[in-house]
Amino acid sequence: MFRPTLLRSALTAAARASAPRQLQHATLPMKRAARFYSNKDAGLADVDPTKLVVTKHHAPGELLNEENLVFGRTFSDHMLAIEWNSTTGWGAPQVKPYQNLSLDPATCVFHYGFSCFEGMKAYRTSSGDLRLFRPKDNMERMNKSCQRIALPGFNPDAMAECIAKFVALEEKYVPKRRGYSLYLRPTMIGTQATLGVGPPGSALFFMIASPVGPYYPTGFKAVSLEATSKYVRAWPGGTGDKKLGGNYAPCIVPQLEAASRGYHQNLWLFGEEGYITEVGTMNLFTAWINEDGQKELITAPLDGTILEGITRDSILALAREFLTKEGYIISEKKYTIKQMSKAADEGRLLEVFGAGTAAVVSPVRKIAWDGGNTGVAREIEVPLPAGKEAGPIAERMWKWMEERQYGDVESEWSYPVKPAY
Ligand SMILES: Cc1ncc(COP(=O)(O)O)c(C=O)c1O
Repeated sequence: MFRPTLLRSALTAAARASAPRQLQHATLPMKRAARFYSNKDAGLADVDPTKLVVTKHHAPGELLNEENLVFGRTFSDHMLAIEWNSTTGWGAPQVKPYQNLSLDPATCVFHYGFSCFEGMKAYRTSSGDLRLFRPKDNMERMNKSCQRIALPGFNPDAMAECIAKFVALEEKYVPKRRGYSLYLRPTMIGTQATLGVGPPGSALFFMIASPVGPYYPTGFKAVSLEATSKYVRAWPGGTGDKKLGGNYAPCIVPQLEAASRGYHQNLWLFGEEGYITEVGTMNLFTAWINEDGQKELITAPLDGTILEGITRDSILALAREFLTKEGYIISEKKYTIKQMSKAADEGRLLEVFGAGTAAVVSPVRKIAWDGGNTGVAREIEVPLPAGKEAGPIAERMWKWMEERQYGDVESEWSYPVKPAY
């Protein structure tokens, strides 16, 4: 059973041991760590959407011409902000004009990477109302990210409600056209100004919103990947299964290297076996006839080396609902690039696609691989139907997902946003 007191002692001891001697006086008092699993147990206030305070922008803007939207370039008028400190817990949620953050240069986020985030979207249905897609799952995942880096936890349902209230207030920024959405970026940072390495005594949750267009404005474009053996994204016991800011910067150079050789993205492998884990910042699915002759949709398991994608989970559920009727078995288990390469040679490879919030699905056309310990470099060709950029599973997954995101098909994943007025 989990013992918060043991964790507290271990963390504080580790923090003390790793702090340079002259900084040890700044190590934080032990009582703070009690927040890790429950604000309530520690007698601290949790997030409370009923306390939301709204300060309106004095010069609100307008949604740009939808066709000109560039991902993450323009933002809505307001931001959501909730402060936390170790004495009182979560303060009142605030919707306030989008603005700069003012932080002391000693703030721990700048030095030790106390930062995690989420990526999610608000959609407008054909009747004009607004929906979020599985927001509580994003908030559950954010809670896990926070707790891994000693940031405060929160009630995921309450946080999802704050997010819905924010979206209702920013209603005009949710595009009307199909395929468009309002991208939401919840973020949490440690804000304590101290160079002592220890659990932050204060934190800030904030969320900004950016209207976005479809990932494939003119239809799917299958991508080419380079399997990366020089770098490792995640490892068991590491933090690659959490959405920490610090996981992303180290992935840029490998991606640039893949791009310099003409590949769109890099495929992350793990271990000498060459286990397939993720592609860029997406989970990866492979459809093949496996070595036992069965049709299988396979994706890497949640073993600590992949992010537990919400699209991944949704695709698995849809596959279990629909594809099993077509004779597919659906597997979350380890598989290697060598097995994939062999399947391609034997004509058993059917489809490969990435899965994530941004693109929903991203079909793959080929994968370059250095051959691992065989040393024979090659390109694995992934079959695509003649004249098409996506296979039938990727195409249907995209459609099934979109129907649920935009509320064409009612689903427990769809979270209605109550109008603000
Ligand atoms: C490393 C990584 N893997 C997978 C995903 C896909 O997750 P989701 O489907 O929740 O967007 C993301 C995107 O958030 C990611 O950053």
